[in-house]
Amino acid sequence: MKPSAPPQTYRVKSFGCQMNVYDGERMAELLAEQGIAPAPEGEEADLVILNTCHIREKAAEKVYSDIGRLVKAGEEAGKAPLIAVAGCVAQAEGEEIMARAPAVSIVVGPQAYHRLPEMLDKAQQGERATDTDMPAIAKFDALPQRKKRGPSAFLTVQEGCDKFCTYCVVPYTRGAEISRPFSHLVDEAHKLVEAGAKEITLLGQNVNAWRGEDAKGRRAGLGGLIRTLAGIDGLERIRYTTSHPNDMDEDLIAAHGEVAKLMPYLHLPVQAGNDRILKAMNRQHTADSYLKLIEKFRAARPDIALSGDFIVGFPGETEAEFADTLSIVDEVRYAACFSFKYSPRPGTPAATMDGQIAPEIMDERLQRLQSRIAHHQMAFNAASVGKTCTVLVERKGKHPGQWLGKSPWLQSVWFEGDYQIGDMIEVELAEAGPNSLRGIVRQTVTV
Ligand code: SAH
Ligand code: SF4
Ligand code: F3S
Repeated sequence: MKPSAPPQTYRVKSFGCQMNVYDGERMAELLAEQGIAPAPEGEEADLVILNTCHIREKAAEKVYSDIGRLVKAGEEAGKAPLIAVAGCVAQAEGEEIMARAPAVSIVVGPQAYHRLPEMLDKAQQGERATDTDMPAIAKFDALPQRKKRGPSAFLTVQEGCDKFCTYCVVPYTRGAEISRPFSHLVDEAHKLVEAGAKEITLLGQNVNAWRGEDAKGRRAGLGGLIRTLAGIDGLERIRYTTSHPNDMDEDLIAAHGEVAKLMPYLHLPVQAGNDRILKAMNRQHTADSYLKLIEKFRAARPDIALSGDFIVGFPGETEAEFADTLSIVDEVRYAACFSFKYSPRPGTPAATMDGQIAPEIMDERLQRLQSRIAHHQMAFNAASVGKTCTVLVERKGKHPGQWLGKSPWLQSVWFEGDYQIGDMIEVELAEAGPNSLRGIVRQTVTV
């Protein structure tokens, strides 16, 4: 590679889960501290970071098409951008990327972002740099302070996964479960609120596995952290995602009934409704134990909205076993769900299991599942009509005078009037569609 001038502008493109989005924001802040500016809309950047996701094959392959596009755009403009690949594909396939894509200068895994500045120096001298170490020191502590502005902010509290579901790459790409320290999280939450956040979503691959010690040295779980964060003036809403059924504890469940700022929403993936499949997936819970947990949440907070993740066509899944997934969807009546066709991932146990399912069967099952999910989502939205709730104004809608925000149950709500981003308004939900509701504003609660 030829030596290059220091980049003046950057663009970070994040794929995958919210933790990747959070990491992308932190990398952007780090680059800003190096004096590199975000590239103006519509202009090519000198440095492009592809913050990739490895969860399914389609997501992982995207990185190569994106690199191709960047190289082509660089040739047309007569100036090749510096390309860095970050995120979970970088972790899983760092060497392969370097071999397959000579245009890539930097490969940086999700636990090594704080080393980006040194890697950039190397790249400018014409050397290629790879760092996919998972050092014991937490990257977050080495990253600059938060500067994010906006009414709704992410805060990663936990990373990594020790569960080893047989289909999943996350334990390999993100490493073992670690919890960020209580005091760091409280500090960061204060900074986010000072910068304008009204809502904070606590993030983790298994967010409810977060454990720490509170200010008095007592052991705390996520419920305890949430109770402390609820004491921050100016913070109006707390959410968390993604939880694992086996990491739930009574205190977190009780918090849903006791902490007014904790929103009535729970994303709790079950993946499948059949116990043989759950066992083959190494989920370590049954359909029944999952349903009992849901009952507890509903007892603590009767209006709680539930969402889940599902995989269809896991190796060996029969039609009858798939029907159990449809049954659990009907039983829980989810407000929203994510559903995926099983994608064999290199190095995971399920990829070499017998009974891989044909793509057309997966397509057909996914369609049936999604139509059940859509039915319940519409029913949940329809049942909300007539309720009055608080909406956090997040952005302008497509039409003049139209605004968009979220209900406590994470539904998109649109309404008309003269507002500012970050306003909390009281809205009557007047009309339901499959993906959003129309609201009639009753009053502005806080500005
Ligand atoms: N830690 C979370 C989810 C992380 S990945 C949990 O356990 O619930 C997000 C979702 O991607 C998973 O819930 C699962 O539904 C899906 N997923 C993961 N690996 C997959 C694979 N190999 N094929 C298809 N979907 C997958
Ligand atoms: Fe993947 Fe399972 Fe860990 Fe979730 S709990 S990240 S699905 S291994
Ligand atoms: Fe994807 Fe990595 Fe998140 S694989 S879903 S970006 S943890």
